[in-house]
Amino acid sequence: MATTLPPQMTALLAREQDQGPDRMSVGERPRPEPGIGDVLIQVGAASFTPTELQWPSTWVDRAGRDRRPVIPGHEVSGTVVALGYGTAGFGVGDEVFGLTDWYRDGSLAEFVAVEARNLAAKPDSLSHVDAAAFPMAALTAWQALFVHAELKAGQHVVIHGAGGGVGTLAVQLALSAGARVIGTGRADARELVLQLGAEEYLDLGHDELGEVKDVDVVFDLIGGDVLHRSWPMLRPGGAIVSIVEAPGHERADVNNVFFVVEPNREQLTELARRIESLRPVVGKVGALADGPRLWTEKIAGGIPGKIVLTSSSPAVG
Ligand SMILES: NC(=O)c1ccc[n+]([C@@H]2O[C@H](COP(=O)([O-])OP(=O)(O)OC[C@H]3O[C@@H](n4cnc5c(N)ncnc54)[C@H](OP(=O)(O)O)[C@@H]3O)[C@@H](O)[C@H]2O)c1
Repeated sequence: MATTLPPQMTALLAREQDQGPDRMSVGERPRPEPGIGDVLIQVGAASFTPTELQWPSTWVDRAGRDRRPVIPGHEVSGTVVALGYGTAGFGVGDEVFGLTDWYRDGSLAEFVAVEARNLAAKPDSLSHVDAAAFPMAALTAWQALFVHAELKAGQHVVIHGAGGGVGTLAVQLALSAGARVIGTGRADARELVLQLGAEEYLDLGHDELGEVKDVDVVFDLIGGDVLHRSWPMLRPGGAIVSIVEAPGHERADVNNVFFVVEPNREQLTELARRIESLRPVVGKVGALADGPRLWTEKIAGGIPGKIVLTSSSPAVG
């Protein structure tokens, strides 16, 4: 099998953090080799987080060494085409999806090497495009709501940024657990968030947050002023969980958490099992070559859910 793999591959390349996504290029890179415990995936579709060029891990390896030019993107769905030494759990030909390592080249390429323990079997009913939109959003929302905030049925949660990649899955997961959801964000996301089942939507540019009281959990995906305006909404003993910045300690009677999502095969497998009742929201789909333009559009705002890029390499066999 390995003899049929091309030595080079096409990938999206980022060179400088301050150049922005519009300055990324599509170029040739050596195809990655799977290491111990890795699988090599032929990418069917991949996605990214719009802010990831600001993450320090995007530019260095775990030892802090510069690894530019980097291949961004940490969400992948594709087919296993080779196994690293000692890799168990998957075989060549399996369709998998999951999160790639923060400190290694990512998924916006024809091939990516990923630790097998960070992947799960892709549900047959899910296309590669929908599967690539799922792992970061679903795992982050799951860990925020149920691991860190310990959200329970009947509780009231406010989700800031509810129309985005993570927010749209968070709304659905909170509802599926029997919670009551208020979504917030820009006016143009109102219809989508209400369609997903939120009971109320607040346009942050217009509506007052001060009207909302006694909520059990605030899940913040925006940070800054929106996060700081959230404290009075919470009941004593409630929780504020942000994935953007540490919330601070404005109230001693409210738990506060900032965390970074962890890849987790068991949680991803459980989320995949529920896929019939969860809808990954894909705002736009393009080819790798469309990456710089679509990434810039996503940052400009107004594109719901995730952007997914497909790889057009011929099937390896
Ligand atoms: N810590 C972690 O593990 C982790 C994991 C995943 C994501 N994140 C972070 O979480 C954040 C959200 O990620 P995402 O992938 O869901 O991004 P996204 O798809 O861009 O979603 C953010 C949502 O919030 C809205 N929004 C942003 N700023 C706003 C403002 N000032 N007022 C009203 N609405 C606003 C956006 O609307 P527009 O699109 O119209 O601007 C969008 O609907 C990012 O900062 C990302 O880095 C952290």
